Amino acid sequence: MSSPPSGPVHVVRAPGRVNLIGEHIDYCGLSVLPMALGRSVRITFHPRSDRETRLVNRDPRFAPSAFAVNETVPPAPAGDWSNYARAAVSAVAQRFPDLRGVDALVESDLPIAAGLSSSSALVVAMALAMLHANGVTVAPLELMELLARGERYVGTAGGGMDQAIILGAQAGCASRIDFHPLRLTPTAVPADWQFIVAWSLVPAEKSGSARQAYNERTRGSDEARRLVATRLSQPKDITYAALVAAAPVEDLLELAEANLSGVLARRFRHVVTEGTRVPQAEAAMAAGDLAAFGRLLDASHHSLRDDYEVSHPELDRLVELAREAGAAGARLTGAGFGGSIVALCRVERAPEVVAALRERFYAPRGAAADVGRHVFVAEPSAGAEVLTPG
Ligand code: GLA
Repeated sequence: MSSPPSGPVHVVRAPGRVNLIGEHIDYCGLSVLPMALGRSVRITFHPRSDRETRLVNRDPRFAPSAFAVNETVPPAPAGDWSNYARAAVSAVAQRFPDLRGVDALVESDLPIAAGLSSSSALVVAMALAMLHANGVTVAPLELMELLARGERYVGTAGGGMDQAIILGAQAGCASRIDFHPLRLTPTAVPADWQFIVAWSLVPAEKSGSARQAYNERTRGSDEARRLVATRLSQPKDITYAALVAAAPVEDLLELAEANLSGVLARRFRHVVTEGTRVPQAEAAMAAGDLAAFGRLLDASHHSLRDDYEVSHPELDRLVELAREAGAAGARLTGAGFGGSIVALCRVERAPEVVAALRERFYAPRGAAADVGRHVFVAEPSAGAEVLTPG
């Protein structure tokens, strides 16, 4: 790492996440149910005495980057990995002027563009490194919101799920995240359940090809909400949560069907029905009802595929194969358009599911040798932390 060093070396770790259910509804203010992964982004850093920040990535695909700490760090070209670090530095610099920079080495065992939030993990890790290096703290809920807003620097109008779970996850648990106000409520994942994550081999880069399609969904869901609100003589700025509380879901869906374009009515149906599945899934998890949770995963996937149109044929195939191999349910996870699926099964069934995916999905695509990288068991893990100085 480069000079001038002016403090001991520290390490921060921020996990990726897998969203179990509640997809594409966080930006509508509806609750979601993700958990953090054992895989993470790690940053080894030391504080500098000036405002320079220098980043080196252990992965040679990502070139070193340097910039001065500022409230609006100029962005690197679109798609550059360092933009997530620049987003974090800008966000914390807006909160605390006069921060010193860091020299940082970034490493990750999280698959990239796989729907597992490697980008938000980098944002969170970088923000924690900056805060720690400068001896300042931000209360966890405030930091989650600050970084959710801050990540929009890369041009994606994301919701707040990723930053919240990456910072606030508890080991062994999934967490329901509610918005406005933000809160996290953990539920223990039953010991005999296993969530398997499998990559479709189709990259879905949030700040790249998937960005436009993602932003279109956020606009569509908002427009649908406003149109339904008008039909119900409700204020145009009513939230989805208040809309769902104002009328039975069936009535809302009928109204959308009768008054909205086909596309907007489908977008609306996804948001509203997915919103109902989250508390049901949370209850199924608390009760250890694997079959019920699995049915909700399947319903979520169908809704994302048919109504929200964010799936991909390779994701659909993976879901189908996981189900045929005995998973209780499976769905795409994350923003979609590629990325990964998550499948649920009992612990003892997991090897069969993994073997079936290897033989029927990865082998025909010439990727069987790498199955250990493409498929893994998601261990519900703790949120981001600064580790003891090394
Ligand atoms: C991305 C966004 C999240 C969320 C998911 C889809 O991961 O960053 O805020 O909208 O997509 O559920």
